[in-house]
Amino acid sequence: MEYRLPILADEDILAEYVREHYLHQENSISASLGLIESDFDDWVEKINRNATIGDCEWGKSLLYLCFDQQMLIGLLSIRYNLPKELSKKYGDIGYGVRPTKRNKGYATAMLKYALSVCKEKGLTEVVLGCYKDNVASSATIKKNGGVLFGEEDGYKKGKVSAYYLIKL
Ligand SMILES: CC(C)(COP(=O)(O)OP(=O)(O)OC[C@H]1O[C@@H](n2cnc3c(N)ncnc32)[C@H](O)[C@@H]1OP(=O)(O)O)[C@@H](O)C(=O)NCCC(=O)NCCS
Repeated sequence: MEYRLPILADEDILAEYVREHYLHQENSISASLGLIESDFDDWVEKINRNATIGDCEWGKSLLYLCFDQQMLIGLLSIRYNLPKELSKKYGDIGYGVRPTKRNKGYATAMLKYALSVCKEKGLTEVVLGCYKDNVASSATIKKNGGVLFGEEDGYKKGKVSAYYLIKL
């Protein structure tokens, strides 16, 4: 797979990625950092600024478009610089795979890649969070060595979040 930051010329492929989610009755785009709520040019600028200068609250982070044979497969958010309290609440890594390409091993490969980036950045462990009922995401995390260390109620009303630790 290929991983890279978004550029302005990606507008059409991201619009198509979003459209596919809508066609599958999904109206939120995981790991997109507000893509659908933002002006596209501003979004690209924000993602590139997060990678180079960083954000005062979240530190430096990467949002990679993940391609397989030129097709946009998923989005991968690597927040390798998070303060501890945010890491504990949101996790250091987030991902989403387009609906028609799920259950083919992509998220497992993307998380593996994100872990290698975090290791390269000097992290010795990462926290990952997902809703307890998100079977696919929990399986993705466990396949990458995640060990459940806590559960929390209430981050979103009526939803229990599960938190996993992965030692690098
Ligand atoms: C969660 C998500 C990223 C998984 O992506 P994926 O590419 O389908 O995952 P993989 O193909 O690598 O599969 C990983 C594991 O999940 C399992 N899995 C995948 N889809 C599943 C499903 N619908 N139900 C149950 N298990 C599922 C796979 O079988 C595999 O486990 P196994 O090898 O032990 O069988 C994808 O479903 C998605 O984008 N969901 C919406 C966004 C989201 O939930 N993001 C994560 C937020 S924490």
